Amino acid sequence: IIIGLVFIIAAYLLGNLNFAYILVKFFKNEDVRDYGSGNAGTTNVLRVMGKKFAIPVFLLDAFKGCLVIIVGRYLLGLGDVYNGIFLVIGGIAVVAGHNWPAFLQFRGGKGTATSLGVFLTLDWEVAIIAIMIGLIVLAIWKMVSLASMVGMTMLPIFALLSGRTVTEVVFAFVLCLFSLFQHRKNIGRIIQGRESKLGQKVKIKK
Ligand code: G3P
Repeated sequence: IIIGLVFIIAAYLLGNLNFAYILVKFFKNEDVRDYGSGNAGTTNVLRVMGKKFAIPVFLLDAFKGCLVIIVGRYLLGLGDVYNGIFLVIGGIAVVAGHNWPAFLQFRGGKGTATSLGVFLTLDWEVAIIAIMIGLIVLAIWKMVSLASMVGMTMLPIFALLSGRTVTEVVFAFVLCLFSLFQHRKNIGRIIQGRESKLGQKVKIKK
């Protein structure tokens, strides 16, 4: 239990390492949250800084999700149902740390890259299906927010349809709810037809 609790707290703290914020702060000495959509995530970094920054942000934010599951499996071991629960709570904690970082006034990202990293490591088959559907949505409508939400919604649906454990289905559902909640402003913009499309840029005033 102690190991499990330490693991969960460490996962939350790791989630606090928001690479959109860190890279833009380090290289431009600006807060990415002051620009574009105000989000500290890959899409907004792409908008504000271009691919050169957005790709590493995506990879690093996804990697911290992978890391939690890899380390969690190693620390907690497999098989025991309680350990499985600790593992997925660790997954929730890293995404929560990314979305609501205590060290960044609780204003972080929307959790797409980190959830992807977590889920790819936990159950790559379900994750790949969700990613493919997300990419199709992105190709058609060119809105990353819509693609993220549709992809994230596919996780619990496909976990359920493919007979995964209750723990995994509930876990996927929680990540999906986090994502929809974090995208609430995007949902408003999509409905009003004002959501920004892939490729639109916002210049940093500097
Ligand atoms: O994962 C974030 C993305 O779905 C939307 O980001 O900056 O367009 O709100 P943004």
